[in-house]
Amino acid sequence: MIFFEPHKRDRAMFPWDPFKAMIAPRPVGWISTRSRDGLVNLAPYSFFNAFSADPPLVGFCSEGPKDSATFAEESGEFVWNMATWDLREKMNMTSAPLERGHSEFDHAALETAPCVLVNAPRVAASPCALECKVTQIVRLVDKDGATTDRLLVLGQAIGLHVDERYVKDGMLDLVAIKPIARCGYQDYTAIDRLFPIKRPAGAGNAGGGG
Ligand SMILES: Cc1cc2nc3c(=O)[nH]c(=O)nc-3n(C[C@H](O)[C@H](O)[C@H](O)COP(=O)(O)O)c2cc1C
Repeated sequence: MIFFEPHKRDRAMFPWDPFKAMIAPRPVGWISTRSRDGLVNLAPYSFFNAFSADPPLVGFCSEGPKDSATFAEESGEFVWNMATWDLREKMNMTSAPLERGHSEFDHAALETAPCVLVNAPRVAASPCALECKVTQIVRLVDKDGATTDRLLVLGQAIGLHVDERYVKDGMLDLVAIKPIARCGYQDYTAIDRLFPIKRPAGAGNAGGGG
């Protein structure tokens, strides 16, 4: 087993930092927002996850002050769109560093669909979306308490969109949907098989959790 501290890795063995390959796969937070002035934005964030089911909380982390976090802060809203195998190239195109005001929807030839409870649009072709209200924006600190430019934007889902074609026996058919997730380096994975594991019974805690 090799041990090393961050920034002290053997660069001959690990030319690239393996951290993001360890925390893998990470779901893609494909985030659409609308600025106070009405500009529409769409970008992928792999520092993204769900943190609670009730209340339903999700969050993405912006490495620096990017448009998604800025627009989410301005409007108090964002939308999470599910990125799928079929949408993988378009999702990637929306990570292009475009000038503010140039919509990634147009850049990737993606149609918008209106949301019900928030002003930002969603990706029409995405089979699942969450309309979210911002609950907290946390400026992350490091172990010494030094502030960073990392902004963790947390939001509560107040509306869910599901393409009914992918509902089977009352459940989302993830193998048919094929969500993609980020691994390290330039790699992704797609869900193409599932295996169930039943949780052990017991009275130790209140249950719940992921
Ligand atoms: C799959 C994928 C995941 C990404 N994850 C993040 C992330 O977690 N945080 C981040 O700051 N940038 C991430 N990026 C880069 C942003 O998408 C990129 O900087 C984008 O231009 C930001 O757009 P915005 O300024 O419109 O929000 C990712 C890019 C890709 C392709």
